[in-house]
Amino acid sequence: MEIIAIYSSKGGVGKTAASVNLSYASSRRGKRTILCDMDPQGAASYYFNVKTKGKYNKKRFLKGKLQKYVSQTDYPCLDLLPTHFSFRNLDLDLDRDSNGQLKDIFAKLEDSYDYMILDCPPNMTLLSKNIIMAADQVISPVTPSTLSILSLAQLVKFFDKIKADRKKHHAFFSMVEKRKKMHQDTLARFRKKKIFLKTSIPYLAEVEKMGITRQPVAVTWSGSPASQAYDKLWMEIWKNRSVK
Ligand SMILES: Nc1ncnc2c1ncn2[C@@H]1O[C@H](COP(=O)(O)OP(=O)(O)OP(=O)(O)O)[C@@H](O)[C@H]1O
Ligand SMILES: [Mg+2]
Repeated sequence: MEIIAIYSSKGGVGKTAASVNLSYASSRRGKRTILCDMDPQGAASYYFNVKTKGKYNKKRFLKGKLQKYVSQTDYPCLDLLPTHFSFRNLDLDLDRDSNGQLKDIFAKLEDSYDYMILDCPPNMTLLSKNIIMAADQVISPVTPSTLSILSLAQLVKFFDKIKADRKKHHAFFSMVEKRKKMHQDTLARFRKKKIFLKTSIPYLAEVEKMGITRQPVAVTWSGSPASQAYDKLWMEIWKNRSVK
């Protein structure tokens, strides 16, 4: 099972939109996929209309009792592990001396899935460190703005600080607006950097409307520019997978 974390310390950059649409793109190709909602805001679970089963909380998650709480989505090959409000301070319960705690927990699902996609909360904490260590790939959405680029640079430093392998870290431009000169200038300046994937996700109304449709864009608008962009992004991420 390959673990792909959609992670940025910055909020509102398109992590959840990417997690939902990339998970769907993977499942549509017949790959057994699970989306783990690690953000107590529960946006990914909302998009799939999945409610947390039974008495799930961070304690049960930390004990590795995951299978019982996995929900099927409306789509073949795509399951979801919901979040819980108690995940907001998951940090406090993580072992400060271990980097591999989350990796061991996720390993419980190892045989059931080909891909696990993590929708991460926006912060840079012990949980983030565990997520980065557990992931085979860390994918950061970056909006074309100075602050977003700055936070990517901080994240690269964080990788070095925690001795994580920088080679597994990639970024993509998210919510790109063609008509904004600053967006185009930022893309022109940074898109050739090694860390950036070739595919960008444009700013498109279909993605915004997912809040109403509560479906991946490719389900509501098959073949739309948004659906094509996420599909292309998935193929690029898939090509970088560690398990060939
Ligand atoms: N490509 C896009 N085009 C238009 N709107 C988008 C796009 N991507 C995301 N959005 C919208 O921007 C908002 C933030 O997106 P999203 O929730 O995916 O960000 P996030 O990084 O997960 O945020 P948070 O840090 O709060 O978890 C949402 O309302 C979403 O619908
Ligand atoms: Mg989110």
